[in-house]
Amino acid sequence: MTAHPPYVIDEMISAKSIAARVEALARDISDHFADTDKLVVVGLLRGSFVFIADLVRELDLPVEVDFIEASSYGDSTVSSREVRILKDLRSGIEGRDVLVVEDIVDTGFTLHHVIGLLSARDPARLEVCALLDKPARREVDIRATWTGFEIPDEFVVGYGIDYGQRNRNLPHIGKVRFE
Ligand code: PRP
Ligand code: MN
Ligand code: MG
Repeated sequence: MTAHPPYVIDEMISAKSIAARVEALARDISDHFADTDKLVVVGLLRGSFVFIADLVRELDLPVEVDFIEASSYGDSTVSSREVRILKDLRSGIEGRDVLVVEDIVDTGFTLHHVIGLLSARDPARLEVCALLDKPARREVDIRATWTGFEIPDEFVVGYGIDYGQRNRNLPHIGKVRFE
């Protein structure tokens, strides 16, 4: 486990604003997939576990929930640029409607890798919903179909997002500030 210097967390997006945005995203997604038999909602572990839990409860669609575990940061704060798949989907997605749910798109390596992997399995439709987008840090040209909030280049935690595996349980999004 890496040791981290002491830091404080300043609130950036309140739990209330997140909830309102999640509701609006769920409406757009429900409209987009209104004709689906069933939507396979794929959460990228671990960061998306809070977002996917809130999002699926607002979707007005038949859904199946599945997970992929992808990790590129580990306990580091810098992307390794090497995305490792630690756990694959339980079900096949060929010919099915799929929504990937991600907490944050930063360099873009994680999402790019996962989209490549899933599109090779020939889903009928494949879209992405990301809660946060940090466009200033992008290294791979990729973007989510739906984004909750665009944020500046700050190190953020909470609502599922960790700093060295801590602070995922914070109910809001905060930015890390070193003292
Ligand atoms: C974080 C975050 C995204 C990814 C974004 O995951 O949850 O999945 O990094 O970064 P990128 O756009 O630069 O690839 P992490 O690898 O830390 O794993 P975790 O979700 O288990 O925390
Ligand atoms: Mn992640
Ligand atoms: Mg992480």
